[in-house]
Amino acid sequence: MEVDLSSALLGQFKKARKEYEIAKREKKEAVARRKALECAKLLREMAKYNRYNEKMYLEMAKKWELVADNIGGILNPSKVLKSKTSPYKSQEIQEDVEKEIDKFKEFVKNNLIQRSKIKWEDIGGLKEVKQLMMETVVISALQRPTSIQPWRGILLFGPPGTGKTLLASACAGSLDATFFNVKASSVTSKYFGESSKIISALYEVARELHPSIVFIDEIDALTTKRSEGVSEASRRMLSTLLTELDGFQDKGSDKLILTLAATNTPWDLDEAVLSRFPRRIYIPLPDKEASKEIIKINTRGLQLDVKLDEIAERCVERYYSGRDIRNLCQGAIWNMIRDVNRDLYKMANLSYRELRKRKLKIRPLTEEDFQEAFKKIKSPLTKKDIERYERWCEEFGG
Ligand SMILES: Nc1ncnc2c1ncn2[C@@H]1O[C@H](COP(=O)(O)OP(=O)(O)OP(=O)(O)O)[C@@H](O)[C@H]1O
Ligand SMILES: [Mg+2]
Repeated sequence: MEVDLSSALLGQFKKARKEYEIAKREKKEAVARRKALECAKLLREMAKYNRYNEKMYLEMAKKWELVADNIGGILNPSKVLKSKTSPYKSQEIQEDVEKEIDKFKEFVKNNLIQRSKIKWEDIGGLKEVKQLMMETVVISALQRPTSIQPWRGILLFGPPGTGKTLLASACAGSLDATFFNVKASSVTSKYFGESSKIISALYEVARELHPSIVFIDEIDALTTKRSEGVSEASRRMLSTLLTELDGFQDKGSDKLILTLAATNTPWDLDEAVLSRFPRRIYIPLPDKEASKEIIKINTRGLQLDVKLDEIAERCVERYYSGRDIRNLCQGAIWNMIRDVNRDLYKMANLSYRELRKRKLKIRPLTEEDFQEAFKKIKSPLTKKDIERYERWCEEFGG
């Protein structure tokens, strides 16, 4: 009677494969290599006992040997294991993979890194949020026991134009950190099949160039709760991102790699995403005090000949966001400039050098400048919208 020993071996193989995965996640390279070789050995055994699948098992064994050879590199074993092509020499694979990863790292360096000059003082209001972020940044830099870990990921949610992107830039700017600015939807649409590789490459570069702030805008575009459904590319990008956020790679490491994610529609986020962002911070519309600060920030260098309290109150009544207030100030400034420089357009035929010699006339901003500007700015938000954010914040925020 022929006994199929391969099924017993299969159990052992699966166990070894699982242990390999764990070791790899935890960056225990020596263990991972040993487990990969064990997988290969078990497959060779299986080939002996199951002649129907002999060829397949031998192929798989070879690929696991390649995986073992490549540990320490950034090879993705699932790709090797699934590939139908005949096995390469391990040296060639190593080079190919390195070239590919370099290509993506190059892409990340050229396209997704910004230097931010924004400082905390450029943000009006949001005192507590600013403080929390400063604390997170400071903790990660200080010497401390390993059990004390700063937040790795913070979710910022709230209506459009309230300063989410600004906060992320200030975080990077104040630290002089490398700032990665990634809009989820544009990565998945432009680099469809490659989006998850871009994310892996991004975190590699972030580790190289730490301290790093990784800003993922519109994270809702990646999650499964969206009714329109999400593409395969988004799903893959999300799963890579979540693995990075689990951060086995950096456990115990002192490198600051803080991921900030932003969304206008937090209710679209699913459990998988939320669980990686235990800190979820509501970035609300500015209240009166914050509105005053934002007006001052956006009129720096000019005098305000206005009742600031009244203007700020009007902003609050009209559900203005920080962006609306900035636009309001720009409108008011423009009205003032036109008022005192009536023949500005006539200078258009002067040379640039001539223009550089002259000075733009200015005067303090008045109520009237603002009155006019108010007419042009309408917030799309309603009380209902705000209540929806508040409800979500009460239930899931923190
Ligand atoms: N709290 C604030 N203090 C100072 N300026 C602000 C503030 N909030 C918004 N602004 C102004 O509005 C602009 C837009 O803000 P920002 O891009 O940070 O909004 P956002 O929350 O990221 O919006 P969205 O959700 O649409 O991406 C800023 O560049 C800034 O000029
Ligand atoms: Mg933004």
